[in-house]
Amino acid sequence: MNKRYPYLIIWLVTVFVLWNLAQVSSCNEDHAATLKSPAANDNLVTIDTLKIPHDKFGEAVRYGRALMLRTAYYIGPDGVNGHYTGNKMNCTNCHRDAGTRPYAFNLVNSFKEYPQYRAREGRILSLAERINNCVMRPNLGRPLPLDGREMISIMSYLKWLSDSASVNNHTKGLKNMEVSFPDRAASSDQGEKLYAQHCTRCHGTTGEGQMQFDQVTYAYPPLWGAKAYRQGSSMHRVVKLAQWLVANMPFDKVTHNKPFLTDAEALDLAAFINDDEKHPRPSKGVTEVQYPHADEKAIDYDKGPFNDPFSETQHKYGPYKPIADYWKSKRLKPTY
Ligand code: HEC
Ligand code: HEC
Repeated sequence: MNKRYPYLIIWLVTVFVLWNLAQVSSCNEDHAATLKSPAANDNLVTIDTLKIPHDKFGEAVRYGRALMLRTAYYIGPDGVNGHYTGNKMNCTNCHRDAGTRPYAFNLVNSFKEYPQYRAREGRILSLAERINNCVMRPNLGRPLPLDGREMISIMSYLKWLSDSASVNNHTKGLKNMEVSFPDRAASSDQGEKLYAQHCTRCHGTTGEGQMQFDQVTYAYPPLWGAKAYRQGSSMHRVVKLAQWLVANMPFDKVTHNKPFLTDAEALDLAAFINDDEKHPRPSKGVTEVQYPHADEKAIDYDKGPFNDPFSETQHKYGPYKPIADYWKSKRLKPTY
């Protein structure tokens, strides 16, 4: 009898462990339905950070990646390595997973695509200048010195990304998710209702977001107000923001292959978030001329002069189709 005790205990423990495993995997199944990991044949852009080399270059790559993930901690208003960004947002709040996530303003190919002619500035920009645009606009900061450790590290990270990603013509997620334009204008009032339903629980009723307990950065970043991205950021354009929203928000309910918001809802929400009459947003430093050539203006950019007969309001909120059709009839390429 005594000899059998250990076997009984082992048997009981095994049953208990197996039962628990069954519970865990059934939870995981539910979870998998919402957080579908990309199947290999999805052809999504992927990256393996374990392959970052262990040498001097790898060190820079790692710091560059850390800067994108914890921007405020390193170079925010109270940054430990310098004070460059003016708010406490991190690059990864928009370029999600440090720029590697599909359809989240992916940066995997950026290193190869610069220097590039930029319509907003009307001139050719280097990648470093483009990075500083984001340091200054969405992050309300002052430019990183071009030869400083921070800029060189971010550039190294972006180079490593572009060298190590296997990208071909069929790779998905490098460009933004397309949204189809409804016949009506995007409605800020509609967006306000959707916001209360789907977004306030994280971003707050006044769009101020929520800080992490240590006050270094946000658990949920701000969408408007003095600490959010400033006017003149690409995010401030309704179509651009909607393209990002359909693939990325609400945070816990969406994947790129299982959108939560319809295209029209994403446009309404973007209209509400970017409605400067309803709520303030930093505007300091936006006096510079953007899109100096009217023929190159993004159609959802709302400051004239325009090369078409449509109003500022229609440029901002749509309907966009008539604008796009007009441009095409003039043999111009509408961008947004
Ligand atoms: C509030 C959102 C937001 C934040 C924060 C932000 N960016 Fe951006 N960034 C954008 C948007 C929008 C674009 C334009 C994307 C597009 O046109 O599809 C962009 C473009 C870029 C590009 C050019 C990509 C290309 O291939 O053309 C780089 C590089 C970049 N950002 C780097 C950064 C870095 C580094 C930080 C942090 C210091 C940062 N961004 C913070 C929104 C943001
Ligand atoms: C469960 C919490 C949660 C919900 C709900 C949620 N968000 Fe977010 N949101 C986040 C987090 C977290 C981030 C930062 C993402 C990251 O760092 O990867 C974010 C980032 C953003 C950003 C880009 C960064 C910025 O501050 O400009 C926008 C825009 C945004 N959310 C809009 C929305 C909208 C619109 C909704 C409702 C449809 C929504 N979110 C619902 C958690 C949430």
